[in-house]
Amino acid sequence: MTLPAYDLTGRTALVTGAAGGIGRATAQLLARAGAAVHCVDRDAEGVEETAALVTADGGTAHPRTTDVTDPAAVRDAVEAAARTGGALHIAAAVAGIMHRSTVLETEEADLDRVLDVNFKGVLRTCQAAARSMIGTGTRGSIVTMASGAVDAAAPGLLCYSAAKAAVVQLTRTLATEAGAHGIRVNCVAPGWIRTPMTERNSADEQRQTEAAMARTSPLGRVGEPEEIAQAVLHFATDASAFTTGQILRPNGGVAMPW
Ligand SMILES: NC(=O)c1ccc[n+]([C@@H]2O[C@H](COP(=O)([O-])OP(=O)(O)OC[C@H]3O[C@@H](n4cnc5c(N)ncnc54)[C@H](O)[C@@H]3O)[C@@H](O)[C@H]2O)c1
Repeated sequence: MTLPAYDLTGRTALVTGAAGGIGRATAQLLARAGAAVHCVDRDAEGVEETAALVTADGGTAHPRTTDVTDPAAVRDAVEAAARTGGALHIAAAVAGIMHRSTVLETEEADLDRVLDVNFKGVLRTCQAAARSMIGTGTRGSIVTMASGAVDAAAPGLLCYSAAKAAVVQLTRTLATEAGAHGIRVNCVAPGWIRTPMTERNSADEQRQTEAAMARTSPLGRVGEPEEIAQAVLHFATDASAFTTGQILRPNGGVAMPW
């Protein structure tokens, strides 16, 4: 039985970054709660796989290959989702990339690339989603994805953490502007989660990093994508009807992630 406040039956959701990791888990969970989920990612094969997983689980999914660095493509994806479902009720902007370089080694091109995906990609998704919701008079929910990197500094993370800090400010600002339309905007800032992004480390580096991260957490472990999807689900549903402009930190209680 789904609790009424968590029931998304009849609602349409769009999830970017849905080809793997946190985005895939989010698409799966929103679909399990009853939403028809538009799975968006630049990885064509990955979004098809996610859609197949959702369908196999009894849900409804529409895969779409879209690069969030392309404003027209993002707009098209949002409009297609709204058209198919009658309106867009939920947008989760999860797509993101990791980049590491020290401040002194950072090239302008690195910063441009990371900001283009991690900040402007989220901005484009938020703009298109909010415009669609306002246009259809839908009191929707927009969820952004930041990171524990916004709460601490660490060597090599300038581009990534600056982009994520901008996502936090985007979330808060849009919440103040869209609230008059009944649209809520909230942010999830995860700690270390086991996903393809973090598994791109070598196996040895991964094991050591996970052990080090686990030691900093009162819960003594790193997180799983499904645990971040639960946070997105909370913001997506009526369970958080009076919550906007907030940041939720599913991070195992880590105060200083890095
Ligand atoms: N894994 C972690 O520990 C962690 C921690 C904090 C925040 N995050 C954030 O969570 C989000 C998801 O991360 P993840 O760990 O699942 O990573 P991931 O690499 O497993 O998934 C990211 C997805 O985004 C997609 N993507 C990347 N660039 C894109 C673009 N230009 N257009 C469309 N899609 C694009 C990728 O194809 C991929 O499917 C990211 O925003 C990441 O910064 C992750």
